[in-house]
Amino acid sequence: MNGKIIAIANQKGGVGKTTTSVNLAASLVKTRRKVMLIDMDPQGNSTMGSGVDKEHLKVSTYEVLLGFEPIENAILHVEGGYDLVPSNSRLSGAEVELIELDRRERRMRRSLDIIRIITS
Ligand SMILES: Nc1ncnc2c1ncn2[C@@H]1O[C@H](COP(=O)(O)OP(=O)(O)OP(=O)(O)O)[C@@H](O)[C@H]1O
Ligand SMILES: [Mg+2]
Repeated sequence: MNGKIIAIANQKGGVGKTTTSVNLAASLVKTRRKVMLIDMDPQGNSTMGSGVDKEHLKVSTYEVLLGFEPIENAILHVEGGYDLVPSNSRLSGAEVELIELDRRERRMRRSLDIIRIITS
């Protein structure tokens, strides 16, 4: 399976990143695509917006980025029909913890490569 990666990022606050992410995920599901939404925001608004309680996450984007858990362990299937890798405030410490790690900017990319292999 090939799959496209769409990143929704903007340094400016309150410009509709979360709204776009959640609605795009739900809309793409309606076109019969398989969708995985990855919440990379410590605010966890996409997680909450997907109907998941961010305060009770066993595995989140944080553990995936730091290499404590494989991404498969973080995936939740949500009501909107897509898969979610959820996030919460644990992620806010990740930036500092990642400084020491090699190739830190490629860690999510590597996790996504693994998902491609598993689902192919
Ligand atoms: N297309 C739109 N038209 C009107 N209002 C919108 C639109 N998209 C988002 N909003 C509203 O704008 C506000 C901010 O949206 P949102 O939370 O998605 O932004 P954000 O970029 O994720 O913010 P943050 O930087 O805090 O994460 C919300 O109240 C949302 O309902
Ligand atoms: Mg947001």
